[in-house]
Parts: sequence; structure tokens; C-alpha cells
Amino acid sequence: MDTKLLMEWSDKHLMTFAKRYPVALVRGEGVRVWDSDGKEYLDFTGGIAVTALGHSHPKVVGTMREQAATLLHVSNYFHIPQQIHLAKLLCDHSFADRVFFSNSGAEANETAIKLARKWAKEHGASDRGDIISMRGGFHGRTLATVTATAQEKYHHGFEPLPGGFKYVPFNDLRAVARAIDSRTAAVLVEPIQGEGGVNVPDDGYLPGLRKLCDEAGILLVLDEIQTGMGRTGKLWCYEHAGVTPDIMTLAKALANGVPIGATLATNDVASVLTPGTHGTTFGGNPFATAVGLTVFTTLVEERLPERAARMGRLLSDRLGAVRAKSGGAVKEVRGRGLLIGMDLVAPVGAVVSACRERGLLVLTAGDNALRLAPPLTVDEASIDRAVEIIDRAVEDCRP
Ligand SMILES: Cc1ncc(COP(=O)(O)O)c(C=O)c1O
Repeated sequence: MDTKLLMEWSDKHLMTFAKRYPVALVRGEGVRVWDSDGKEYLDFTGGIAVTALGHSHPKVVGTMREQAATLLHVSNYFHIPQQIHLAKLLCDHSFADRVFFSNSGAEANETAIKLARKWAKEHGASDRGDIISMRGGFHGRTLATVTATAQEKYHHGFEPLPGGFKYVPFNDLRAVARAIDSRTAAVLVEPIQGEGGVNVPDDGYLPGLRKLCDEAGILLVLDEIQTGMGRTGKLWCYEHAGVTPDIMTLAKALANGVPIGATLATNDVASVLTPGTHGTTFGGNPFATAVGLTVFTTLVEERLPERAARMGRLLSDRLGAVRAKSGGAVKEVRGRGLLIGMDLVAPVGAVVSACRERGLLVLTAGDNALRLAPPLTVDEASIDRAVEIIDRAVEDCRP
């Protein structure tokens, strides 16, 4: 179909909730995608840290074909073998004992908030329910999760917002200690802030949060929706810190693009859910969880977290070289594994456009950072090419 007409229809018929790039992507394979005019791009967005195995991975495609032709959906009134297997696998490879499946990151966080509040009420006073979250964080766009997202720009116009959320600066243990009181149920935090700028906290931050939560008898909830599934070089980002949470949320890469969310918890926390207290129609259906099973098995069998660590080092080192010779145009390169942010002097939008024109798709984060989240299967030649394009794009946009 004619690309220009497609854009006109998009302008006319879609709600304009996002500023879209003037590109319609129609096909993908590995780290490459093609647009409706046949132009090829390196995809270092990974669909916002989703396509960990790359586009059209043969095992994922095979599972989708087979499961779609066998059984797509039944509802949670029945046992779903794929859901049970995926839950067992996630628990076998993490701190968790139990899993609740949903359809998105926001829903996974909604479940985490509900779990934390119910747990707090059953383990303390009936008015315990406050969630402490971090400035610059991102937890979703539903009313509760956008309120947990301590960035006012996402709140405007949607008031009244639900109560029971308190904000503190990221990477500031003293502020958390000051904020905890008798009404606090949980601390909710991303181990590395993704949307907020790829902000990596100090090494002592997560262990410090764990200690504060233990001392106060409250829960530590880790939002690993962006950092999980091997992206930071370990299966879960919390492994870098040597502590475990009480609740962890996942989505994005869990089924490589098939919508899915998961809330993982210890037996103690999960026990507050009893029949009828929570629910979902689609969550954990045979299709999404069959794909999740294939994705997770592939990730573990092919040791993709280790690969992400290796390739991430390579990418960071090469971007570091771009920074070194940029004469101050690149201020900082930071991140972990294959979640990398690059602070720029030039308006980040201009650099994103220059990259796209040269055949590389990248994300932004925070106010002025370029964000890279390629598939964990990315190869060295693609990294070299991407860095070359970024180098030229930074040069193109030099103020
Ligand atoms: C850390 C984090 N939490 C939650 C979400 C929300 O996920 P979803 O868009 O699937 O609702 C995102 C999405 O970018 C995220 O990065």
C-alpha cells in the first residue's frame, strides 16, 4: 500500500497518543527490519526492549504456528499446561514461588501494587497501603501505575489520581528511610531506570533498599519489565546486586512481542490472593505462555544473558570511543548489558532522525539520552555498523 496514504489514514483515524516516526515497518528478521518502501534498518530499539530473540525467530514462529493451530484461548477457569510450565520455569530460575500472568507491564505492576497492599493489610494495620516509588521512574499508563510513575508530565489532565503513592529521588537511600512510615506497604523501583534515562544506581542501592524494607517489615517490589530476561547481562538485574525482591514484575521480552505480563512473588506474598480476589480473561492464555515458554527456554539454553553482557561491553566500549573523540558532543555513555544510554548535547530527536535516515533505529530516554536496546542475539558486525551510524549522526547534529 502507498506509504503516504497510510500516514494520512493514521493521522485521521488513530488517536494521537504517540509521536510516530514517518516510517511504517512491515517485515523483520533478526536485528533487521524493512519499511513499506523497502528500506532496510538495523533495529536497536528491539520494539522498546521487547524482541530479545530478534524478529521472526524460527523457534518463536514455530511455536506460534503450532499453538495457534492447536488452542489459542480457554480462560483461567481451566488448568493451562503452558502457563503452568512457564510459571515453573520462571520460579526455578528466580527467587519466586508463584506467578500471576497478565497482558502488559502496566497490568503486571497493577497486580504487584494490589498484592503489596493486601499483604500489608494482612500483616499490619488496616491503613497500610502506601507505595514509595522513585522520581524519574516508569511503571505504566493505567491510573495506578501512572501515579506510581513519579513524573508529573504523565499525570497532567488525568486527575484525580489514586492516592497512596509517595515519591522520593532515585538512588537516595536516606530519602527512602525518611519516607517510610507506619502506612507504607512497599517500595517499588526499577533496578535501572529505563524510560527515565537509563539511570544506573550505585552498587549499594538495591542492597540498601532491601535492608530498609526488612527493617520496616515492608515489601521490596522490583519492576524488571525492561531490565529482566537477560537484558542487563544477567537473567534478572537484581542478581548484580546480590539481593532478591519480594515481588518482581515482567512483561516486554517475556514472549518476544506477544503481549504478556507476569507478577512473580514469594509464597508468603502470593498467599494473599485467594479465589475471586483478582482475575484476568486473557492473562496466561495458551498462546502467550507457549511463546513465553519457547522464549525463556531459548534464552537459557543459548546463554543469551551472558551474550548480552559480552555484546553490551563491546557496544559500550565502542560508544565510549565515539564519546572520547566527540569533543564534548557525547557527554556520557552508561548502562548495563544491552541496555545503554548515551547523553548528548545536541537535541536527541535530531540525532534519532539522523540515525534513522542512515538506516539505524534507536530510542530516546529521559530528556536528552539516546537509548539502545537491540536483541540479545545481536552480532558484532551489526554493532560495528550501528556505532558507525551513531558516530556520523552525532557529527551531523553537532551544534
Ligand atoms: C520499567 C517499565 N515498567 C512498566 C512499563 C509498562 O509496560 P507496558 O507498556 O507493557 O504497560 C514499562 C514500559 O515501557 C517499563 O519500561
